[in-house]
Amino acid sequence: MTDQHTGRLKDQVAIVTGAGSGIGRATAIALARAGAHVLGVGRRAEPLDRTAAEHPGIVALTADITAGGAPQAVVQAAVDRWGRLDALVNNAGATAVMPLADTDAERVAGLLALNVTAPSLLAHAALPHLRAGRGTIVNVSSTFGHRPLPGAAHYAATKAAIEQLTRSWALELAADGVRVNAVAPGPTESEALAASGLPDTVVEQIKQDESARIPLGRRGAPEEVAAWIVHLADPAATWITGQILTVDGGLELT
Ligand SMILES: NC(=O)c1ccc[n+]([C@@H]2O[C@H](COP(=O)([O-])OP(=O)(O)OC[C@H]3O[C@@H](n4cnc5c(N)ncnc54)[C@H](OP(=O)(O)O)[C@@H]3O)[C@@H](O)[C@H]2O)c1
Repeated sequence: MTDQHTGRLKDQVAIVTGAGSGIGRATAIALARAGAHVLGVGRRAEPLDRTAAEHPGIVALTADITAGGAPQAVVQAAVDRWGRLDALVNNAGATAVMPLADTDAERVAGLLALNVTAPSLLAHAALPHLRAGRGTIVNVSSTFGHRPLPGAAHYAATKAAIEQLTRSWALELAADGVRVNAVAPGPTESEALAASGLPDTVVEQIKQDESARIPLGRRGAPEEVAAWIVHLADPAATWITGQILTVDGGLELT
């Protein structure tokens, strides 16, 4: 990726949740390189600071987006700093291996809180600002938002939910000129698997199995997903809304 500032998003203001790692980190950097002011959000300061050190256009904000009042505070922080908000990238999310036999109410609630409720409340808080500037929301789903995932059904269900929110909000907000789209990545290098609590050997086996199943023969790089998030957030993408763009090396076709 070039360090050159493309200016496509010059002076736009974006919020990226989960900006300390993986797809969120790559997205924050790509948006800043395109000229945007970016508020990078996550719970841990250190990884966020590392992202912010990559580009002066990125400012780090530590927040747990599932905490009461946090979505409003995150949006307010961007508006207080830059006076506007043009793009909300709902990227933070978690996965969970949880077969039906092991289903646990607390884990189901936790997945819903992070993958569905927090993006909803962030979008709600952002709405007046997005309406004012004809801004945009980009949600991050997964290939498994629209195909079954045995052993991790609740993760897939939360991503199916974000896809339906994307389509419904797109219609609800079209008259205001606010576009809502989603990117649905396939298996991409990130901290997600390591953070799942699975042993290293199992993680390595999952990665190998995934690569073997992906028609293009490998897992994705976060930058390969981030590029499409930036395209969808670009104000020049004036006539696309309500779409779920799958970026997965062809996995969806298998
Ligand atoms: N990687 C893949 O293979 C893949 C495939 C399909 C979809 N996705 C989706 O892509 C998105 C990004 O995932 P990733 O793979 O890049 O994973 P990741 O590296 O684990 O990133 C998730 C980020 O979310 C942040 N986060 C988690 N809980 C949070 C909370 N309560 N409040 C604020 N921030 C929180 C984490 O930072 P802190 O821990 O510091 O809070 C972390 O930076 C997720 O929605 C994921 O479901 C990923």
